[in-house]
Amino acid sequence: MSAQTLRFESKERIILSLNQDEITRLARARAVEVIVKYADTKASLRHMLRMYLQESHDDAAVKRQVQYLVISVIRHKNTIDYLLTRGDPTLSFGKLDVEDQIRLRLALFENRWLNEPLMTLGSHYLKWRTKLRSVLQTAAAIDLDQSIESLSEIEKLSILYSHPTFIIETLLEHMNEDEVIELMKENQTPPITYLRPNTMSEIGTLSISNLISKGVSLAPDPEVQNLFIVREGLADLIQTKEFRNGAVLIHDKASVIAVDILGPKSEHIVWDACAAPGMKTQYICEKMENEGKLIASDINRNRLKGSMKRLKSWGCSSVAWLLGDAIECPITGANKILIDAPCTSTGMLQSHPSYKWRLNKSWLFSLMTIQSKLLEAVISSYSDYPETEVVYSTCSMLPHEGESQIDSVLERFDIELVDIEDIPGQGYSGFNCSKKVRRFFPHLHKTNGFFVAKFRIL
Ligand SMILES: C[S@@+](CC[C@H](N)C(=O)[O-])C[C@H]1O[C@@H](n2cnc3c(N)ncnc32)[C@H](O)[C@@H]1O
Repeated sequence: MSAQTLRFESKERIILSLNQDEITRLARARAVEVIVKYADTKASLRHMLRMYLQESHDDAAVKRQVQYLVISVIRHKNTIDYLLTRGDPTLSFGKLDVEDQIRLRLALFENRWLNEPLMTLGSHYLKWRTKLRSVLQTAAAIDLDQSIESLSEIEKLSILYSHPTFIIETLLEHMNEDEVIELMKENQTPPITYLRPNTMSEIGTLSISNLISKGVSLAPDPEVQNLFIVREGLADLIQTKEFRNGAVLIHDKASVIAVDILGPKSEHIVWDACAAPGMKTQYICEKMENEGKLIASDINRNRLKGSMKRLKSWGCSSVAWLLGDAIECPITGANKILIDAPCTSTGMLQSHPSYKWRLNKSWLFSLMTIQSKLLEAVISSYSDYPETEVVYSTCSMLPHEGESQIDSVLERFDIELVDIEDIPGQGYSGFNCSKKVRRFFPHLHKTNGFFVAKFRIL
């Protein structure tokens, strides 16, 4: 589907300031629109929301509320759907028209999580549809704990904390139940946003004081230098010139740490093998002081083109861009390589809850195949270049995409893991690599779920 047909346009430009009631009414209508469009296309929820936020002329308060409603409903989808399915057994929720399902989900979310009265929700979301109103009423009255009593432990957790059973089963193999619950609970809350100044922009670190003077509340991260936690004012921040010009960049702390672990310097030859959209490339370039040799490759033409354009506008002039398959290992002679491999993104469920619902085993297996091919190809091609250092990372909570991959190459190739001494932590236990790799979790580290390993070719 073309971008043209995905356009979000409000019927008329909202110029007058709206009262709270009007904001709520409009936000509800827009939230339905956004989720219906998401359900109708293969585009990601993130993309649909971005389209709406960029193209609609709605008031900022409406946009904030739409974003909140859309993300929350997707975040709690399992719980909501379970209740609605029980709301009226004679009416199969799954067989309802998609828009009706979405209206019911939004209404039930607002009732159970925000205590909004059923009367108003019924009138805003369901209008005259008496049958749907009765489903909503019954679903709203269900005692959830009692209703799931007879289910298996995994099913209960899946319904209570809205996570797929496969993820829960996998996590329970490596953490105790209380910790899995803490992690899932954290995934159900908005994530911390981290910001770093782009020292290659014209104003460099001054951008931070500019933002503070514009009322954005920032606190320095206690562990990572030059990284800031956005305490308040995110919505205002993304409207600022500093953010729009790339003088400040939103970048998750775990990703920043992965580049710190790589340790690029201007005297190195660095290959960022899976580079798009280029966030880590930008930070590597910054650490190399925009000098030296940095090659950024990606297999996806559009993503690579977008990254080139973005990083150029952000002041990264020293990067050599290459469209290519890293499995063919087109770059020789690098002394530092970053393989930030494509993965399930299950570490990003806090910011992108829709990723929970697209996960399936065949997709996981195909990603695991690419990950192991990337590792094997780089290691084999660099077997004549001892001392080359490789960082392998994924934003995944699954050991299949982290520890298992590293154990597999440790067994088969002449490589050794490099101690990551200055970053505390370890990987999931029970693997050969456990002690020397690092895992980050939303509930423990306030970052995306992330895996990093560093090894050296022998
Ligand atoms: C997790 S993203 C990388 C994120 C990026 N490093 C950043 O920090 O912004 C993974 C990227 O790997 C690319 N990719 C997938 N398979 C690849 C391959 N065989 N060779 C090179 N790039 C590949 C995808 O197109 C995607 O852009």
